[in-house]
Amino acid sequence: MIQVNGKWQRTYKNAIGRWAAVGPYYAMFPNEFAFDVVSRFTDPGDWVLEPFAGRFSSIYAATSQRRNGIGIEINPVGWVYGQTKLYPAPRESVEDRLREISQRARFFGVRSRQKLADFFSHCYAPNVLSFLLAARHDLNWKEDSVDITLMSLILISLHAKLGSGLSNQMRQSKAMAPDYSVRWWTRRKMTPPNLDPLDFMLKKIEWRYKQGRPEGTGKGLAILADCTTELEQIVLNVKKGEQPRFKLLLTSPPYYDITHYHYDQWIRYWMLGGPDFPSKVENRHRGRFSSKGAYQKLLDSVFEHVAQIMDDNAIIYVRTDKRPFTLETTRNVLMKHFPDWEVEETNRPFDGQTQTALFGDFSRKPGEVDIVMRR
Ligand SMILES: C[S@@+](CC[C@H](N)C(=O)[O-])C[C@H]1O[C@@H](n2cnc3c(N)ncnc32)[C@H](O)[C@@H]1O
Repeated sequence: MIQVNGKWQRTYKNAIGRWAAVGPYYAMFPNEFAFDVVSRFTDPGDWVLEPFAGRFSSIYAATSQRRNGIGIEINPVGWVYGQTKLYPAPRESVEDRLREISQRARFFGVRSRQKLADFFSHCYAPNVLSFLLAARHDLNWKEDSVDITLMSLILISLHAKLGSGLSNQMRQSKAMAPDYSVRWWTRRKMTPPNLDPLDFMLKKIEWRYKQGRPEGTGKGLAILADCTTELEQIVLNVKKGEQPRFKLLLTSPPYYDITHYHYDQWIRYWMLGGPDFPSKVENRHRGRFSSKGAYQKLLDSVFEHVAQIMDDNAIIYVRTDKRPFTLETTRNVLMKHFPDWEVEETNRPFDGQTQTALFGDFSRKPGEVDIVMRR
């Protein structure tokens, strides 16, 4: 990332830009946008809050500019990306761990592979699948920073266009349904790429670390949790004076009835210990938010807590969907909890950059709206 004439632009020529790209997620802020909002509305040392952090774009934009931030995300895929980009482990340790995992792959041979759904042998070559099974079994992605970093680099390449990832042809941002994929590959006689996972991953690591690791950053906290419960603790910490108030809320809640974040990431979710098939049966916050009442309750609970921990001079910046139910619910809930704040709304018509369209899903895109509030 680089600022040219006051405008943030993407670049891979510095470490901040390379690590900002971690990793593909179905709905995410363009990094330029997150960097711009943080630099416009906060000063170094200020605190930024993001309760629906996704891949932690807001918090990374904050720490990269010497602000501090707390982000909460319920989906482990987004959290692993966030934790990695905030605190990437040293390159040598990640490479050593990769070599260990690659050695361990021989303990995950034919018998381990056969236990998996048919889909996997169509998606991955046998040696790649053994490597993935070893990584899935051994990497302590919840606690160990080297393992978290390696896991996120594997997740990025887990599925992608044929030739640029570990899998047979697939979109990088969104995993397709297993039966559909198998039919699609079989009809086109497409087989998974035959590659050496150790060599492949070493090259990916080399690229990622080429400009080093992001330095001179602020404090960033990535929390893997349901924000409705986690925010209660943050409210307590602020009231006890253990956590400063926040100067910026930069967030984008899930859109009503649009994406199922776990389902769309099911292969990456499997790598993190989830089932070997896409599952829609999840707890009430993980699904598609298809009950209007539950959606309203989620936003109500979150913004009620947020209102208790913002600074008097804070900015509330919420990007949301333009479809009437999501927009009206978000607007009403915000106005309920920030009653005498000024509201400004800006249309962000679809220009190929909306969150859900970043990776080529151009259907049904009425655009997005930025709701900005201040006292
Ligand atoms: C629109 S995305 C946000 C993307 C983010 N702005 C970014 O740049 O990556 C909404 C996110 O909210 C998460 N989410 C939904 N319900 C949640 C909850 N109760 N607690 C925490 N995160 C939640 C979803 O998993 C999803 O990643």
